[in-house]
Amino acid sequence: MQGNILRELIIKALPELQLIQNEHYKKAVISIWEEAYSASGWENLEDVPKSGDVVEYSNLQHSRSVTLQAIACADVIQSIHQINVDRDILITSALLHDIGKCFEYTKEGMKTRYGKLMQHGFYPVQKAIEHDLPLEIQHLIVTHTGLSKIMPQTVEALILHYVDYLDSDVLLHVLNKPLFLKK
Ligand SMILES: [Fe+2]
Repeated sequence: MQGNILRELIIKALPELQLIQNEHYKKAVISIWEEAYSASGWENLEDVPKSGDVVEYSNLQHSRSVTLQAIACADVIQSIHQINVDRDILITSALLHDIGKCFEYTKEGMKTRYGKLMQHGFYPVQKAIEHDLPLEIQHLIVTHTGLSKIMPQTVEALILHYVDYLDSDVLLHVLNKPLFLKK
């Protein structure tokens, strides 16, 4: 896929990008998605599966769902508890957290060698550093998964971690598969 076509497809596929106020963060998310798809060679944005056991839903759907759920949580936490949540940090991280899945699975949901040797938070953190995204965002990405031995240390990181597992378990539930909750 040509660079500018891919870029336009990404902007169209991710309307949540427009909710990021910080222009540098927004451009970095678009560039990182573009670089991930270019390097991994997937033909269509929606071809990357959510995970090996959830190939019926795409990583694109999951990333959008997690982002919107994270924003909904931030709204409630802010309005009911008056606890401040940094939306730009949260939305940017939510849109990036699983982009490493481009390298983790084949179309059939089989683990690639990369997927066997790396946890999927590594690629987006590496890209976040390359694109000068702050440590706060790197932290959210690396701690979104239970594969991290470092636990979430900020309110934003807690929200991302839990909504990611919520969305994952809802999809596993409707597919009659074992939940993360039970693992
Ligand atoms: Fe996820």
